Amino acid sequence: MTPTVAVTAGRLTGLHEIVDVGRDSRRGGYSRHVFQPAELELRAWFAERAGRLGLHVETDRNGNMWAWWGEPGPDAVVLGSHLDSVPGGGEFDGPLGVVSALDAIALLRADGFAPSRPCAVVVFAEEEGSRFGVACLGSRLMTGAIAPDRAGALVDADGIAFADAAAAHGIPPRHLGRDDAALGRIGLFLELHVEQGRGLIDLDAPLAVASSILAHGRWRIDVAGEGNHAGATRMADRRDPMVAAARGIIAVRAAAAVRGDDRATVGRISAVPGGTNVIPSVVTAWLDARSAGDDDTRELVADIAARVTAEAADEGCTATVTEESWSGAVQFDPVLREALASRLGGIPALPTGAGHDAGVLAAHVPTAMLFVRNPSGVSHSPEEHATLDDTVAGVVALEQVLRGLL
Ligand code: GLV
Ligand code: MN
Ligand code: MN
Repeated sequence: MTPTVAVTAGRLTGLHEIVDVGRDSRRGGYSRHVFQPAELELRAWFAERAGRLGLHVETDRNGNMWAWWGEPGPDAVVLGSHLDSVPGGGEFDGPLGVVSALDAIALLRADGFAPSRPCAVVVFAEEEGSRFGVACLGSRLMTGAIAPDRAGALVDADGIAFADAAAAHGIPPRHLGRDDAALGRIGLFLELHVEQGRGLIDLDAPLAVASSILAHGRWRIDVAGEGNHAGATRMADRRDPMVAAARGIIAVRAAAAVRGDDRATVGRISAVPGGTNVIPSVVTAWLDARSAGDDDTRELVADIAARVTAEAADEGCTATVTEESWSGAVQFDPVLREALASRLGGIPALPTGAGHDAGVLAAHVPTAMLFVRNPSGVSHSPEEHATLDDTVAGVVALEQVLRGLL
């Protein structure tokens, strides 16, 4: 009998097994942040599920988890994604790629398939950067794209350093950093991911291969003014950084809007000290900016910085803009992409505005991505969705690809 994809209660069984882990009671969806209880529960689940499949599980120097089918590397075919989420994120962003990879291996194993080269499923740590601020932290560390000292010094909202959080979970800070042994085992990396926009809805297709990723990054905007009393300070006497930041945020949107299809977002803001009857001293807003090419994104951010500075000055405040992370534009290997697309019956290619560990890996090893249709067209939100049929199609696609590669 041909093995079939494991399904429970209308979901891939793996997704069903973690459906209650890290639910976010405020927004809905999931909050699963690196080295916090929900994410640790997912790590334990991954180790257990991979173990059930007969895979050998290990955690690397940077906190990424690997489940090996056969002897580890070299020239391994590596599938995988991440298990952490944005605050109140969807069910599929990350876990779909991990579950689908395990399910594809399960199908091959049940069919008695014997691989002729090593194969692994990887779970990259802190892909969203939701706790420590830098996205794809695990893959950046592994590839040397971020210095270990800088990564270790990143702090979360409670002032806990990444180095300390990692140490508390068995990752010695002195071991953080470029991991040539782990990287050197990867012959090819393939990340399956829920699509995060409307591309596949518009194409009326369940699956696509990725063609490119926008250049993107994160910047901190600190607006400083004069902290003062909400009742005793006349309106004309104020240098209010909250007002300056609000004007700056409107300017962020305006800067992106005049540049075609650029994207600029302020999704997080904080006021010091943050009191209802206190004019703040400093307001910090975090900018996420994206455009097609590296220069386009740099130009967008320069324009935003100029506008924000001018708006702040008009309120008697100052603004400083500091880069926190940068990811250059990615063009996925066209030969590999074409080969995958044709192996899967000529599926379409789609660009994406979302960042991925695959984007980090693409600078080092042959890398490709598969997207699964998202009928809501919405992501980084509880509304993110994928139908059972499409997720099963994703698993079957990975299985077919593995049969060709292994
Ligand atoms: C991650 O999903 C990102 O695009 O920021
Ligand atoms: Mn995401
Ligand atoms: Mn993701």
